[in-house]
Amino acid sequence: MFRLVARDLAIDLGTANTLIYEKGVGIVLNEPSVVAIRYDGSRKIPVAFGAEAKSMLGRTPEGVKVVRPVRTGVIADFEVAGMMLSHFLSKARRKSKSFFKPRVIVGVPSGITEVEKRAIRDSIENEAREVRLIDEAMAAAIGCNLPVTEATASLIVDIGGGTTDIAVISLKDIVYSVSVRQGGDAMDEAIINYMRRRHHLLIGEATAELMKMTIGSAHPDYDGQEMEVRGRSLTSGAPASLVVSGKEIREAISEVVGTLVAAIRQALENTPPELSGDILAAGLALAGGGALLKGLDRHISEELNIQVTIAEDPLAAVVQGAGKCLDNSELYRNIWF
Ligand SMILES: Nc1ncnc2c1ncn2[C@@H]1O[C@H](COP(=O)(O)OP(=O)(O)OP(=O)(O)O)[C@@H](O)[C@H]1O
Ligand SMILES: [Mg+2]
Repeated sequence: MFRLVARDLAIDLGTANTLIYEKGVGIVLNEPSVVAIRYDGSRKIPVAFGAEAKSMLGRTPEGVKVVRPVRTGVIADFEVAGMMLSHFLSKARRKSKSFFKPRVIVGVPSGITEVEKRAIRDSIENEAREVRLIDEAMAAAIGCNLPVTEATASLIVDIGGGTTDIAVISLKDIVYSVSVRQGGDAMDEAIINYMRRRHHLLIGEATAELMKMTIGSAHPDYDGQEMEVRGRSLTSGAPASLVVSGKEIREAISEVVGTLVAAIRQALENTPPELSGDILAAGLALAGGGALLKGLDRHISEELNIQVTIAEDPLAAVVQGAGKCLDNSELYRNIWF
């Protein structure tokens, strides 16, 4: 049976992951924002999407390339992003058995340009009856259950793959926001560079990410962890492996972490004094996959002297917040645009 009225959908089109929430149902899709493309002359033919495509990263046959169409929070490859979004949307629609097109609400980074907004609307026009946008930081705050509709200030920090969005929110309004074009990807790059420089070992993105998640941290408490890493020796050209410590990885990513901490400090300094008091009392909330970096909450707390809480499900906070807006459209009226 097909339903006559399509249920509204919320989408978090992230640099690293795309999630879709169906109104009244919950998360119906959660896939890496990755497409494997076969090049036929100038034509791009998608051969795999999402998790299947990600597993091909760094090991594709000739003529096939694994592409991430969203970079630093914005669409970098319109054609491929469009293919990916319409694939994911039609998958979600098949699941919800809706024949008609849904209304779709999409999370976008703050500071997005009109051209970028247009590109997002264009890329899903075929799958949606109506397209609305919501600020990602606002959605993350709602997903973290922060009291955004009340006359008190909340501070949200969403650390994604490509961007870190920091926002002070009060009475449904963004009082201050900054988007830093650095996040988990920059940490992976720092690890790749460190391994090349210090150990003359060439590693791929997937290995760097795994190292970050396994032994990476922002706090010396985790320095003692170790991991065996495989790659290609830059000196002999042959496969090689060695054991790396948590301390090394903490130091390798410390510059990126420092940039994020500095941006949060700046947000605190730019917050009007009456609102600072609220934030001091409530602390800040961390969302996005970067919030899962070990010891990051403690590091921020120690550096900035502020209480830090981590979202219950950091990777899903944005889509859950946008979904909550769909579920409670009266309460969150005027929050999307
Ligand atoms: N356990 C972990 N420790 C450290 N980092 C992690 C962990 N799990 C996921 N990440 C990182 O989180 C990032 C992905 O987070 P998320 O899905 O929130 O990003 P995104 O929303 O797709 O990106 P953006 O918001 O920048 O567009 C990746 O860089 C990933 O490596
Ligand atoms: Mg995100």
